[in-house]
Amino acid sequence: MTVEPSNSTLQTLVEIAVSSVSTLESIYQAHGASFPSLDLIATVCPPNKHHTNLDGGGMYVSAGLQYIVETSIPDIMKEGDPKVMHVDEIASKINVPTEANGLARVLRFLATHHIFREVTPNVFAHNRTSSMFCKAKTLKEIRDDPVTQYNGLTSTANLGHCLDEGLRSAAHLSAWLQAPKGSIRVSPFLAAFKVDDIWRWFEQPGNELRRNRFGSLMSNTQWEAEIFTYAIRWDLFPETSTVVDVGESLRTVSMTLARKFSHLKYIIQDLPQVIDGDAGTRKFWAKEYPEFVQSGKVQFQPHDFFRPNPVNSPDVFIMRAILHD
Ligand SMILES: C[S@@+](CC[C@H](N)C(=O)[O-])C[C@H]1O[C@@H](n2cnc3c(N)ncnc32)[C@H](O)[C@@H]1O
Repeated sequence: MTVEPSNSTLQTLVEIAVSSVSTLESIYQAHGASFPSLDLIATVCPPNKHHTNLDGGGMYVSAGLQYIVETSIPDIMKEGDPKVMHVDEIASKINVPTEANGLARVLRFLATHHIFREVTPNVFAHNRTSSMFCKAKTLKEIRDDPVTQYNGLTSTANLGHCLDEGLRSAAHLSAWLQAPKGSIRVSPFLAAFKVDDIWRWFEQPGNELRRNRFGSLMSNTQWEAEIFTYAIRWDLFPETSTVVDVGESLRTVSMTLARKFSHLKYIIQDLPQVIDGDAGTRKFWAKEYPEFVQSGKVQFQPHDFFRPNPVNSPDVFIMRAILHD
């Protein structure tokens, strides 16, 4: 049974917590033992269970999340009417063959981690946490243009990236750290995907979705692009000034600046596919800020930042979140 939160529910919870503390203390007293340091869940849960389920087994939550995000199950349920759905119905709406029993087990497992609710056996509904995994697009838009399905202001681009590239890379971390020097590739990611350069890999045919998802997560990043509008007195730069955004990715800092300081000229540099790909920067600007593109004040320049920059002496180079590369 599901109980909606209310004051009385919270009060009940407090009472359970208080009476449980008394019970725990009396058990410790009965054994002449002192209460261990307060690590909350780790304290009240038997250690083997805690470490097996939460630490060692945490990747199963990630794997379940990867499955539901990649198959857009939160979006299927968002559009459901009524807003609870039987697993058979969810399975029938996933556009790749899926096995309802396996799906039910994944959703039930996530529900035990407070992601979705199992309202009655095999019938699931969103809760606040699971609703955060909905993409910004409708199910039809997701199906019509899968490559751009992660675009928009949600956390799903970041989540999808972490659960795909990140999860696979994490499995290689230990072996990578323990490998004799020079014997294996230079990062867990490169070891996991057996490539030499993540950016070239993003550029390869077949990686359009991942490349676009990465761009989308960069534009949703928590580092507000707006900080660049007041950190520097852009208004004092004369009209002839040029700003070069090196490794701009998709639509982040420069577009925010251009909207506020349209007297400046901007040159957007990144790898060729990021600039000119189907969901690339050039097309994005043309759609989002066409008048600025038409004014000729923004140029798009495929450029490898490990090579000498083709722009001589601009007024400002922007290099945000690229120096680690
Ligand atoms: C972490 S993102 C940062 C994006 C953007 N500067 C921002 O702060 O939102 C790194 C960007 O560098 C680009 N990049 C990586 N290697 C590059 C290279 N050799 N030349 C040009 N761009 C590169 C990637 O395509 C990606 O868009």
